[in-house]
Amino acid sequence: MNRVYIKTYGCQMNERDSAAVASKLRARGYSLVESEHEADVVLLNTCAVRDQAEQKAIGKTGRLAKRKRTDPDFILGIMGCMAQNRGEALVDTLPDLDLLVGTQKFHRVPEMLDNLLESRRGLGPRPATLVDLETEAGSEETIREHGEERQVSAFVSIMQGCNMHCTFCIVPKTRGAERYRSMDNIVEEVRELAAKGTREVTLLGQIVNNYGMRQMPFVDGKSPFTQLLERVQEVDGIERIRFTSPHPRGFQRDLVEAYGCLPKLMPYVHLPLQSGSDRVLRAMRRPYTVRRFREIVEQLRAVRPDICLSTDIIVGSPGETEADFEQTRAVFDETGFDMAFIFKYSPRSGTTAADMEDDVPDDVKDARNKTLLDILARHSRRRNDSLVGGVEEVLVEGPARKGEGMFTGRNPGNRKVIFPGAPRLVGEIVPVRITESSVSVVRGELVLAGAEAAAPLHAATA
Ligand code: 5AD
Repeated sequence: MNRVYIKTYGCQMNERDSAAVASKLRARGYSLVESEHEADVVLLNTCAVRDQAEQKAIGKTGRLAKRKRTDPDFILGIMGCMAQNRGEALVDTLPDLDLLVGTQKFHRVPEMLDNLLESRRGLGPRPATLVDLETEAGSEETIREHGEERQVSAFVSIMQGCNMHCTFCIVPKTRGAERYRSMDNIVEEVRELAAKGTREVTLLGQIVNNYGMRQMPFVDGKSPFTQLLERVQEVDGIERIRFTSPHPRGFQRDLVEAYGCLPKLMPYVHLPLQSGSDRVLRAMRRPYTVRRFREIVEQLRAVRPDICLSTDIIVGSPGETEADFEQTRAVFDETGFDMAFIFKYSPRSGTTAADMEDDVPDDVKDARNKTLLDILARHSRRRNDSLVGGVEEVLVEGPARKGEGMFTGRNPGNRKVIFPGAPRLVGEIVPVRITESSVSVVRGELVLAGAEAAAPLHAATA
């Protein structure tokens, strides 16, 4: 009765929330399983950022609900952003739901499941759908548990919510107002992770460079976020620091300089541009210009010439003309992003943009999407080709999905590297000579310590 399967849609924040729920459930005696077929309880942790993401979760819920006909004790729940976005209206369309849990209530899942299971055992009345979508002061501190098993690379939630007003975006509605965890608690969590063998942390927040902005002081011209990075840099055992996502607004000099003085801060930034047209950025209520974005990129490259850049772009937002898109295409190509997520605009009810006409035809969105994807493939391939013949420092994460004896890890620029390895290397940073490249991954061979020096010696004794 207590086997739980959690399926996660959407962003890293959702992955982190799911992991925290899983950990809390384990602590309460539940067992977490790898497939819905083995589970007595299925929880979907959902995304609302585009309609497609919601439709996927709704379709899945419908299919899972059928199981109730043969197995009335089966428990089905929806958590996260879609629960928050659609609210109780979801129960009207999906009356078989047992649980609807909002984005500030993940920590209540164990207790809610306990109640449902008790009612299943005939110990209480069978409740209608249990719904908790309220806001909760302090809930940002509740996403902190990790499992017992080692995570070479771990996500750490540093804040929740967003106070921006991007016209297209549902997130302020689903995640609520911006709230920060205390710096001490975050650093403590990072220390605990390091003690269990974590080597890399990715600090997560809707807009990480806003961290602490409305509550904590600047010190020596450094923002609270930069101060946090400095403190994480001090944690022994942590070798690599990443974060996602910063916002171009407020990407100040101190953060740029952090790339020059914090050796653990990896040379990779995901910096959402959204559009290369100032007119569209204004319509999106994104408070920066393309020129300012370019300036940040130049500053970063001046400090770390090897820095890898990633971005988010929306194509076909309301009123985006061919000329607007041409500007996006030009900046996108010129900047030479190593990685990018390109989205076709999807109207979200409740956002300001939903009141504007979704006037770019779908085939035009498709074409613009493809244009950018082709450019991305070219730049990504060029970067990967440039690695061939060189040696990359790779943090080994585990066995590769395919290939006997193959292992996978990432280089500082966040590129996936595949190479023949061994289980004892997991969690180590090893030198890998890159021998092959493709658009999205590179392959190589371990450089064994002393191997280069040993070669002539062998020749001499042969
Ligand atoms: N339509 C398309 N893409 C969107 N994003 C956010 N809202 C929408 C929307 N309504 C994209 C943005 C954001 C990323 C997480 O999702 O590019 O940065």
